[in-house]
Amino acid sequence: MKKYLIDFKIDDNIQLSSNYSLIKLSPCSGLLPEVEGGQFAQIEIPNSKETFLRRPISICFFDKKNNQLWLLVRKAGKGTESLINSISNTIVNMMLPLGNGFSYPTKPNAKVLLIGGGVGVAPLLYWGALLKAHGYDPLFLLAAKSENDLLLKDYFEEIGNVYVSTDDGSAGEKGLVIYNTILKDKTFDKYYCCGPMPMMKGIAKIAHTNSIDCEVSLENVMACGVGACLCCVEDTVDDGNVCVCKEGPVFNINRLKW
Ligand SMILES: Cc1cc2nc3c(=O)[nH]c(=O)nc-3n(C[C@H](O)[C@H](O)[C@H](O)COP(=O)(O)OP(=O)(O)OC[C@H]3O[C@@H](n4cnc5c(N)ncnc54)[C@H](O)[C@@H]3O)c2cc1C
Ligand code: FES
Repeated sequence: MKKYLIDFKIDDNIQLSSNYSLIKLSPCSGLLPEVEGGQFAQIEIPNSKETFLRRPISICFFDKKNNQLWLLVRKAGKGTESLINSISNTIVNMMLPLGNGFSYPTKPNAKVLLIGGGVGVAPLLYWGALLKAHGYDPLFLLAAKSENDLLLKDYFEEIGNVYVSTDDGSAGEKGLVIYNTILKDKTFDKYYCCGPMPMMKGIAKIAHTNSIDCEVSLENVMACGVGACLCCVEDTVDDGNVCVCKEGPVFNINRLKW
């Protein structure tokens, strides 16, 4: 898939809390290239001399009608903090679309569950919308430490039913997401998951036990984002170490040595 270097303008930076922003951007000129659900962008951090490497951020939503792209950003360090603090009309250069995307279920009426933890919900919004547009009826399980970290629930509810887990019980079921009641339903055909590594491994274990097909989106630390520096490798069953930025970030769990 062809990659582009494009200048975007921030149309809107919606501060969800002091740690999270939903940033809506449109290209300074021309139309957005096609994007698959689950792909990411390498973002040049505006107004920051300290963060010279681009930062990988998932494409949260691709609003074709308004020629707009959405990013959901969590403040992790200097780069993401600078993004969160960027005001409207700031110019942001992005390389995109990068990596692979999620794949559609093989069965036409497949029962699918999209499971997101914290900012890991980001790539699932657009993917959920695509699944719905292709005739599936996606369900969502959103997890967070507490209600304040529960992200974009209203947007997900526009696509399908949403189940919630919070560690402290401030919203939805109390406890780790892997104990959520919906995961006791063994009739799902496919899970799609993105979140912290222990959570994804827990979901993979449940999927293995119940013979549910499962794709996860990995967030290994990246530098180049295009398969040149080898700093993002993951060991696979079939092909040894592969670059997550190029062969991923989405992997079927059967490929991973988990
Ligand atoms: C494919 C992919 C998709 C991602 N999608 C999102 C997203 O949609 N929203 C979001 O908020 N975050 C996302 N991340 C994580 C995000 O890239 C990091 O939080 C960010 O790069 C940290 O940069 P920083 O300058 O703010 O922090 P730093 O000061 O550089 O580091 C702070 C913390 O972030 C970790 N980190 C640093 N660089 C990276 C890196 N290149 N990749 C992963 N972790 C890193 C460090 O280990 C450290 O724990 C994604 C990561 C990947 C690989
Ligand atoms: S980030 Fe450089 S090879 Fe993946």
